[in-house]
Amino acid sequence: MRDFPAFDDPGSVQGAAPILCASGVRFHAGGSALIDGIDLTLAPGRITVVMGANGAGKSLLLRLLHGLILPDSGSVLWRGRPLDRAARAAQAMVFQRPVMLRRSVLANLRFALAVQGVRGAERTRRAVQALSRANLADLAHRPARVLSGGEQQRLALARAMAGAPELLFLDEPTASLDPASTQAIETQIRDARASGVTVVLVTHDLGQARRLGDDLVFLHAGRVAEAGPLHATLARPHSAALRAWVEGRLFLDTSCAT
Ligand SMILES: Nc1ncnc2c1ncn2[C@@H]1O[C@H](COP(=O)(O)OP(=O)(O)OP(=O)(O)O)[C@@H](O)[C@H]1O
Ligand SMILES: [Mg+2]
Repeated sequence: MRDFPAFDDPGSVQGAAPILCASGVRFHAGGSALIDGIDLTLAPGRITVVMGANGAGKSLLLRLLHGLILPDSGSVLWRGRPLDRAARAAQAMVFQRPVMLRRSVLANLRFALAVQGVRGAERTRRAVQALSRANLADLAHRPARVLSGGEQQRLALARAMAGAPELLFLDEPTASLDPASTQAIETQIRDARASGVTVVLVTHDLGQARRLGDDLVFLHAGRVAEAGPLHATLARPHSAALRAWVEGRLFLDTSCAT
């Protein structure tokens, strides 16, 4: 298997200090290696798309990169230093299954901002702005837990963005959304990138990956099967796993040999 320690995309990543670096990250559970020696580098201001089959380890990888779980070995460095509270406060994550507090939509946003230390009128201003950006203003006073799955995903992204993160992890943020809501979320992701936010986006939607992604990390059985600038990598996949994915075939082999 090829080793992909970082992206070499001349003219884009070059010269920029990485915002986050993972080296040799391993995570085991129940006797199996679920994440098996992952190296990757995130350059600031880019959208890295993470793809791979169900169970490949995408959500686990995001949790490890965000510091929600600790690797058994290897390291995750934020701006060259180990992850700590301050690093995590500069990041936000939208989970595959969003968790809503038992409060109104607006109160969920206000709570997230309070945790970030945003006070008083500024808190209300940012909460209302986030709701309007997510097209959820009409639902501001509805209990968040009664929102539909798609509405909860939109609220989860709005909540994450309201904290003005430097790095945003998005785990299948449009998985259960209709086309209009998907477009609205994609616009929010583009806006985030335009304002300098670095994004890691897990998606199964190849069209979405092409629309949004700068870089691609393709996982297979807990390993990086292939990584690099997204469009070039999808156009000329080297690994059997990614080739099968792009061609819409099942890939059942556990080896990544080409
Ligand atoms: N805490 C855990 N203990 C044991 N196994 C786990 C744990 N967390 C995840 N796994 C297993 O690790 C594998 C990877 O899980 P993960 O949720 O990262 O997959 P995924 O790539 O996000 O898949 P999907 O596309 O279905 O969301 C799965 O087989 C899952 O059952
Ligand atoms: Mg997942």
